[in-house]
Amino acid sequence: MIGLKSRLQLRGVTSVRNIIKPNTNFSRNKSFFTIPPPPKKNKRYEHLPNWRQWAAYLGENEAQKKATKYYVAGFGVVCVCFYYYMRDKFYEDQQSNLIKAKFLKDPDSLTEYEHLRLKLICGEALKSREEKLFRMYSEMRKEFFRKSLARRDDLTFSPTEEDLAAWYDKQPKRVMKKAPVGDATTENGVVEEKVSRGISNKENPNIMEAHDTTEFFDEKAEAYDAEVNWEERAVLMGMRRRETMSWLDGDVLEVSCGTGRNIDYLNLEKVDSITFLDSSEKMVEITRDKFKEKHPKFRKAAFTVGKAEDLVELAGSGPNGVKYDTIVETFGLCSHEDPVKALENMKHLLRPGGRIVLLEHGRSTWDMINNHLDFRADKRMKTWACRWNLDIGELIEDAGLDITYEKRVHFGTTWMLVCKKPEDPIRMDEKTFLQKLFGRGPRIE
Ligand SMILES: C[S@@+](CC[C@H](N)C(=O)[O-])C[C@H]1O[C@@H](n2cnc3c(N)ncnc32)[C@H](O)[C@@H]1O
Repeated sequence: MIGLKSRLQLRGVTSVRNIIKPNTNFSRNKSFFTIPPPPKKNKRYEHLPNWRQWAAYLGENEAQKKATKYYVAGFGVVCVCFYYYMRDKFYEDQQSNLIKAKFLKDPDSLTEYEHLRLKLICGEALKSREEKLFRMYSEMRKEFFRKSLARRDDLTFSPTEEDLAAWYDKQPKRVMKKAPVGDATTENGVVEEKVSRGISNKENPNIMEAHDTTEFFDEKAEAYDAEVNWEERAVLMGMRRRETMSWLDGDVLEVSCGTGRNIDYLNLEKVDSITFLDSSEKMVEITRDKFKEKHPKFRKAAFTVGKAEDLVELAGSGPNGVKYDTIVETFGLCSHEDPVKALENMKHLLRPGGRIVLLEHGRSTWDMINNHLDFRADKRMKTWACRWNLDIGELIEDAGLDITYEKRVHFGTTWMLVCKKPEDPIRMDEKTFLQKLFGRGPRIE
């Protein structure tokens, strides 16, 4: 065995200092990021590193004179971009006026795109599917304008639904593999391929089939808190839970209460009564123990085992049927067998003026993240019985609820929503500044 010292000596190294010094210089000179010296060296700065020599060089009069042409060229580029941007805005404005005129003449004559544009012009929020459609039209419009940069004639963008379908068919489709889990992987390791379209929950082949998850959560109940604690802490979910719980008011129903993870954030001052419901008996038991420990004096609390899909039957109908001022659910929709039915039931149990408060996870506002959610959908279902790639906005739309407040965090995957029945008026405190200023939005005249 040759010792360290002899090995270093074989390489011509006589002391440890020599190992560091020459190597550092070598890596500095050969580094990928090496900055070359400025074209004209000033002796005064020669001892400085190259980047500082550049700074001194660019500060000198001679360099600044040379740079004038670059400034002028840069200004020219900005002017051209500004021209095209303003031209686009001009045509957009012109089209808005055309749409308004068309609507006043014959409301039925509007195309799908024009209808969406009109909604936006009037300050109305688009529903989930409409928003996705409008995003596709906007992509199409960008392409239309890119291709017509040199045109000077009328640049009105008025596609029909068929135009959109034809445009969509021409777009490259993402072909992706499913995350290999258990039996999804074939013997030679090849996994099934699926085309990701992601237009809606029903059309997205990567969304797993829903099923009854009661048994899964019964088995998971004991370990649940320990397993999700670190994940929730890492993304500061406590803050989001606190914010969600601050909406509770009057008689409250918590659907899919799980292990009562929201109890720590409950403020019972505004709460008259609270009912906890979950399909897993074990989960309800843990919630009951937690609640009794935290609020031993609060008497108006009930704990029920049952499915959100059966809520209406559980609450009873007629004069003795139970109704609520606030129904809250956190991270439950993803594990329901029929989330739309669950939401419809919640809507049915709301008192006039009541609100459904949701904190859920689902599709993101970023395509890149949605692709990941789709890719791991199988795995997520196996480990958490959870369909994390659902479009929550679409479920709300399908259940016939209106959204009065929406906040998306964690790249849009965490949805914080307050919903109401469509016939209920929006409260003054729920209106945005612009809604308060303009009423329902700018009028068409
Ligand atoms: C992911 S956990 C969320 C628990 C809790 N809400 C939280 O924020 O931690 C989902 C819960 O939904 C419950 N659940 C699943 N399907 C249900 C259904 N159809 N009706 C009621 N609860 C259901 C499960 O038993 C489980 O406790």
